[in-house]
Amino acid sequence: MQVVIKADATAVAEYGAAIFIRQIMQKPDSVLGLATGSTPVALYQQLISAYKAKKISFNQVKSFNLDEYLGLAPEHPQSYRFFMQQQLFNHIDILPENTAVPEGAAADPLQACQDYEQRIVESGGIDLQLLGLGRNGHIGFNEPSSGLRSRTRIKTLTKETIADNARFFSADEYQPHLSITMGIGTILDARKVILLATGESKAVAVKAMIEGPLSASCPASALQLHQNVVVVIDEAAASHLENIAFYRHIEQENEQLLARLGKA
Ligand code: GLP
Repeated sequence: MQVVIKADATAVAEYGAAIFIRQIMQKPDSVLGLATGSTPVALYQQLISAYKAKKISFNQVKSFNLDEYLGLAPEHPQSYRFFMQQQLFNHIDILPENTAVPEGAAADPLQACQDYEQRIVESGGIDLQLLGLGRNGHIGFNEPSSGLRSRTRIKTLTKETIADNARFFSADEYQPHLSITMGIGTILDARKVILLATGESKAVAVKAMIEGPLSASCPASALQLHQNVVVVIDEAAASHLENIAFYRHIEQENEQLLARLGKA
């Protein structure tokens, strides 16, 4: 696990966006795994700017989102499909048919989960997966106790996650308690994973993910099994880490090595 500690949320977004921009430049038909939540918004703004500056194009890119609320139609303002349209898709040249978000309002959601897995396989698999982090260590909507090899399926949300996400719903609005989410196994199949976490409220989950035991109690700890994952966090999210000096040292060594190899 590569741990990159940046000063603040802006620097985290810039670092993450640079990885996406490089990926799209190197492979214009990349398959991207995308995430919702407030953390990725600044990264998406950077991608929109890079597109507008004609640095990158998304016209060959395919995308798969991590999750969706069960029961919300794509046009529902709190659906993750709606979020993606507003935050990214409406502002870039990605083809609508190349953007996939789990079908929250599917007539047969169980079948929709299987179809989603199939569609990822048919696309050739995800090249670069973006993740945020729940306060309880969830990735996507894989809540604590999720199977570490799970695939796309329906998941019940914890009370904590429902409370955390209540800020997006108005008081009289129905807030789903169920979701469709890529599984942890689905996420681990991505060729490269980048997880962003910012703010003090994520510090406990960040510590469990990086330094805790591999455990279904912290679904993000499953990333310890992945061979190409970079965790980008700000100082506040890093504040509970015990080995912070070592992670910084590794980053310095990496930079020096890359400079020596002419790859900086
Ligand atoms: C939701 C999403 C997750 C996201 C998490 C954290 O529960 N399903 O994919 O990582 O929220 O969101 P935020 O970035 O707003 O803290």
